[in-house]
Amino acid sequence: MSDLDPDGLRQECAALSLPWQVQVVEEIPSTSDALRAAALRGEPADLVLFAESQTAGRGRRDNRWVTPRGQDLMFSLLLRPEAPISLWPRLTTLAALAICRAIEEELPLRPQIKWPNDIYINGLKVSGLLAEAVTAPAGMSLVLGIGLNVNTRAFPPALAGTATSLFQSLPAHLQIRELDRQPIAIRLLLELANQFSRISTDYAEAVAEVRDRSWLLGKQIRATVEGQEIYGRALDLNQEGHLILALADGSLRTFASAEGVRQVISV
Ligand code: BTN
Repeated sequence: MSDLDPDGLRQECAALSLPWQVQVVEEIPSTSDALRAAALRGEPADLVLFAESQTAGRGRRDNRWVTPRGQDLMFSLLLRPEAPISLWPRLTTLAALAICRAIEEELPLRPQIKWPNDIYINGLKVSGLLAEAVTAPAGMSLVLGIGLNVNTRAFPPALAGTATSLFQSLPAHLQIRELDRQPIAIRLLLELANQFSRISTDYAEAVAEVRDRSWLLGKQIRATVEGQEIYGRALDLNQEGHLILALADGSLRTFASAEGVRQVISV
């Protein structure tokens, strides 16, 4: 198991003309909490903080994000895009696409996007995104936290049967030695920069690429929106990347986001 090489990441970012200012820490409560504090202090955007281990990693809906030291990728980005703030929610969709593309470029795997914020492989969660707006005297920022299971092989009982890692998703004959996280991290940084650049000009095309990778479309689902349970068939994504759901009464509704999205298997 080798640690991430921060100098190597910085050199690659410079060679690829990526905007990221990369830092790697050995242990921290949460990379997203640290970048929220950085945003409040008014630190410059494009800071990317990786941690080998988190003691208080957070997921959405107050879930914890727990992974063993040095096995996976846990990082957050401090973003302050020039695009109007009304377009910033697009960054979550673009980040999901970036994660898929990075995985596809590095490994013989076919990740899918489970709208709105998860990445699945073979029906199991391999990565999650946590987007949080931060309002500071100097202006608004977005902290985007990403957890990607790379080498983890044993998950806590609560996640058994729902989570996977890149390593575990590989065909058995390729599960020889653990995956090197460094090239995957570099590919992620490259894809994130590439996809974020589509926020204003090329977003409809990006959504088409998201649609091609959708885990949800065609499925009967249940989810929670603003505290209310919703049921329906996931029909399509609109041009904004929002979900169009066909409800039981035949009406169509569009949702910008939702929590606890689950497939409902009818018997
Ligand atoms: C989710 O699927 O619920 C989102 C998980 C996000 C986890 C990442 S790990 C790096 C960053 N720091 C955190 O505390 N959370 C995010």
